[in-house]
Amino acid sequence: MDDAARSLISQTPKREPQSFSAYAPSNIALSKYWGKRDKARNLPLNSSLSISLGEWGSHTTVAPSEDGLDHVTLNGESLAADTAFARKALAFADLFRNNCPLRIDTRNTIPTAAGLASSASGFAALTRALCGSFDMELSEPEMSLIARIGSGSASRSLWHGFVRWNMGTAEDGGDSFAELLPYRWDDFRIAIVKVDTAPKSHSSRDGMNHTTKTSPLFAAWPAQAERDCRIVEDAISERDFKILGETVEANALAMHATMQAARPALSYLTAQSWQVLEQLWQARSNGLEAYATMDAGANVKLIFLQDSTDDITSVFPDATVIDPFAGQ
Ligand code: DP6
Repeated sequence: MDDAARSLISQTPKREPQSFSAYAPSNIALSKYWGKRDKARNLPLNSSLSISLGEWGSHTTVAPSEDGLDHVTLNGESLAADTAFARKALAFADLFRNNCPLRIDTRNTIPTAAGLASSASGFAALTRALCGSFDMELSEPEMSLIARIGSGSASRSLWHGFVRWNMGTAEDGGDSFAELLPYRWDDFRIAIVKVDTAPKSHSSRDGMNHTTKTSPLFAAWPAQAERDCRIVEDAISERDFKILGETVEANALAMHATMQAARPALSYLTAQSWQVLEQLWQARSNGLEAYATMDAGANVKLIFLQDSTDDITSVFPDATVIDPFAGQ
């Protein structure tokens, strides 16, 4: 059975590459993707829903190379072809090109100190830049389908706002792509509480595959995650922040529980992450309406509404606050 994303790329007419630049925002899942039903096509076991991070993302330019060799730069620095980033970017470009050498320049605006991964925005921006460079006429959902091959969470980074990645059921992955949801919530805020910037010991890919394979608790995850995804979307559409926050936090903790039950156990959360959670829960018992979510790393992300901003920064003075709809 063919892969829908690869077939789409090979069947779409292309011109010779030209210089093209694109931007994609990073995103944080409010209801998580954790586990694949098909590794080769990068198909998830459940749908997920995210909020974009505004100006925090990746700017990528794809251009023909002038000296016949591939060149990859990251934040202005030339990378050797065998570094992980260059290898992944060039392997992804191989899906589009017919041996033509390319220059791929990526600049991430996510502060390094925020400790957030940039693979979601990186592959989304690279997909947009490659499609533009080869002048391929593709819709955003089609680009999302393609970005998914690079990294699942990248499928959700084509847009600003709330985005849902539908898991789909087709064997070739043709219906597994994301779409922008029609909800704007101007008061919605995110805070990043940085805990640790050390490079993570396991990529999310390795972590989710290990969990899927060995965790006895994983069996309960896909159905619960699918339910959570629906509850999160309903809560957003109804502006019910309490249900939204409670579901987001429970969903993240359930995902981390599946990892802790893996054999051997996998934990991205550190003692410091738990300390932030304890502080949050204490503040919440005193009336602060904020909820936490954590990904494959130790940092804690908080969601809250604009009028809680001062309370958040007084409890977490080092937190960085993001307004995901600013400028949109
Ligand atoms: C915990 O999208 O990085 O952030 O598809 O293997 O590249 P691959 O995984 P990736 O996993 C993201 C995992 C997560 C949850 C989420 O973003 O939904």
